[in-house]
Amino acid sequence: ELQGSVTIVVLGASGDLAKKKTYPALFRLYRNGFLPKNTHIVGYARTKLSHADYLDRVTHYIKLNKDNAQAEQDLLDEFKQLLYYQAGSYDQDASYQALDAFIKSQLESTMAPGQRNRVFYMALPPSVFVPVARGLRRNAYATEGANRIVVEKPFGKDLESSNQLSKDLGQLFTEPEIYRIDHYLGKEMVKNVMTVRFSNVIFSHVWNRMYIDNVQVTFKEPFGTEGRGGYFDEFGIIRDVMQNHLLQVLSLIAMERPISTDAEAIRDEKVKVLKCIPPIDIQDSLLGQYVGDANGEGDKKLGYLEDPTLKNKSSLTPTFAALVLWIQNERWEGVPFILKAGKALDSAKVEVRIQFRNVAGNLYKSAARNELVIRVQPDEALYMKFNNKMPGLSYQTIQTDLDLTYENRYTDLAIPDAYESLLLDVLRNDHSNFVRDDELGAAWRIFTPLLHKIDQHDAAIKMTSYKYGSRGPDELDDFVRKYGYDRSNAHYDWPVQSVL
Ligand code: BG6
Repeated sequence: ELQGSVTIVVLGASGDLAKKKTYPALFRLYRNGFLPKNTHIVGYARTKLSHADYLDRVTHYIKLNKDNAQAEQDLLDEFKQLLYYQAGSYDQDASYQALDAFIKSQLESTMAPGQRNRVFYMALPPSVFVPVARGLRRNAYATEGANRIVVEKPFGKDLESSNQLSKDLGQLFTEPEIYRIDHYLGKEMVKNVMTVRFSNVIFSHVWNRMYIDNVQVTFKEPFGTEGRGGYFDEFGIIRDVMQNHLLQVLSLIAMERPISTDAEAIRDEKVKVLKCIPPIDIQDSLLGQYVGDANGEGDKKLGYLEDPTLKNKSSLTPTFAALVLWIQNERWEGVPFILKAGKALDSAKVEVRIQFRNVAGNLYKSAARNELVIRVQPDEALYMKFNNKMPGLSYQTIQTDLDLTYENRYTDLAIPDAYESLLLDVLRNDHSNFVRDDELGAAWRIFTPLLHKIDQHDAAIKMTSYKYGSRGPDELDDFVRKYGYDRSNAHYDWPVQSVL
């Protein structure tokens, strides 16, 4: 833990990420007693803002617990006492010198040398990552304490640009000083994957190609790109959520057991498993773009190409993709890992579905396959589908489940937001849930050839369409079936009376 004072500088303090995620997470850490004593938060952005306007902006999305309204309001007022604002440009040394002078004179002067720590949180568009990091390194780097810099995707657009960014940042800050956020690593159920895998003997021996037939990681959002068409069109669904969030989940499911729970031990295993994955073959992909639903309401009427914030009206950027990754190692050879992600679908859901093989020499012909499902969101849950004898005077097999739905089992539980948990990790100097530079390269290598083919409109790329609010392209069910996903005999049946 950091000793002394901590100044957290939020760069891009007037932007969306800062307002919606960073400040609310900082407030919750404060409320729960996790911000170190002598923490100050300095917002930095180009916009000139009065102190009152700044406070309004950055506290706008903070939600207070209504059951305890007065106490919560008091805590928020106390939290506001920690907040400062400095306007400055992103590319002028003088602005960062002014920031440094402010921190030194107003916030650090009473702290012992060696205990004047600084955390730089870059809530910024990628075009200014490097100039800002350079300005900070030259002019506002702590010489009497630790420095930490937090950055968030997009980390480049392909292997080459990501390597360049890593190189540029690496010349300014050391790898231990850099925290690359992938906020999926801060989600409760994603953090739980390692615990479930490596603390239960019942899972360790079946977690391989002998017992697992296929794995799916699914991300669904019920809304389109409304208002974000500009950003999204440059990136597409694969860069937006698959190369990072879903691949992180896959790494945790597929990696070997780390030698310890230390950050480097975990990250070593993730890199190793990623290196066993060849680049995705076009044949193993299904891409789609949503079209409007004439009967839908509001935004649902509009297809991706009709999004007013989209400039290129003949864009071929995918808003849906199903991609199959193969891991060429002893544990996983031949097991498809199917990543599926889409915008403008029928529901909001992120889950991992591990489907086991058929029982050999099955006595019970109607038995469905076992499945272990980890529901990341909404409503965190872990459940195992298995077959049971129909209760009563029958020998029929029925499918049922062992169900750990968090809200039923852990009552009164407040699951922290991903950013809250990750910011605490930064303060504690724990890199376990952050992306290492070599991991980033290993991840981009898998996706880059396919992305380049999509960008260049290669003739081999086929784009399907799907209706806003649907389950995705019509081709999807056949696609997952082709890779072995089997739903035969899979249905729940909860008899209320015993059946003869
Ligand atoms: C972001 C993507 O990284 O993740 C967004 O840029 C996406 O497009 C978001 O909506 C999903 O995060 P969450 O936490 O809402 O699942």
